[in-house]
Amino acid sequence: MKLIILGPPGAGKGTQAQKICDDFNAVQISTGDILRAEVSNNTELGKKAQSYMDKGELVPDKIILGMMEKKLFGEEAPSGYILDGFPRTIPQAEGLTELYEEHKEELDAIILLDVDRQEIVRRLTARRVCKECNQVYNLEFMPPEEEGVCDECGGELIQRDDDKEETVLNRLDVYEEETSPLVDYYSKTGKLEKVDANGGPDEVYDNIKEVLESL
Ligand code: AP5
Repeated sequence: MKLIILGPPGAGKGTQAQKICDDFNAVQISTGDILRAEVSNNTELGKKAQSYMDKGELVPDKIILGMMEKKLFGEEAPSGYILDGFPRTIPQAEGLTELYEEHKEELDAIILLDVDRQEIVRRLTARRVCKECNQVYNLEFMPPEEEGVCDECGGELIQRDDDKEETVLNRLDVYEEETSPLVDYYSKTGKLEKVDANGGPDEVYDNIKEVLESL
């Protein structure tokens, strides 16, 4: 299965991608996670990406497309995956379409998570992430058993730099301007599936599962 999970920052793309992967034998490919790993390893790519990420701006399309071509069509490319955070602009979507045509592959569906802006700000400012294993928590909705400590590996929980309220608001504006045009782009393929994502994680997943089982 090859899917895109689309939606604003904080819509729950990462949370839902993990659940889909567990049930549908796929791997999650998150451009945000890949870029954060490049930043923390201080690579050339990470150095270029960091200034954009800290402000909540997008990393240039050329860098992202080069990085994703290797991931999706290189020697170690997985056969089933959920794309989380990519594509994020019309040039990225067009570049991805060209790559699929070149490699004679196809997407199965694009799942659009639909969430209110107010709910997003609440979710993101309360998100905490494990510094060691990247497990995601939420102080309000999905707190860890022990404050500040990861349930999975015991690592320290931190707040992402771009989850401060001012940066969250900028990320939402960037989404409206750069990413929301993808809804129209993918509607035309007949493969876009809109899901109500305002409820709790399990309720949202039930909505997604219903769509995936009908494909
Ligand atoms: P990225 O990491 O992709 O961030 P994002 O798209 O802004 O998405 P988030 O990770 O913030 O949210 P999510 O939808 O995955 O929600 P989550 O499940 O974590 O990108 C970061 C930066 O990298 C970008 O700003 C950009 O600079 C750069 N970048 C990345 N990709 C790029 C690209 N393709 N091109 C250019 N630049 C790129 O959930 C959020 C919180 O809510 C969590 O605490 C979670 O526990 C909680 N939660 C989830 N679902 C629910 C629910 N149903 N109810 C209650 N709480 C919930």
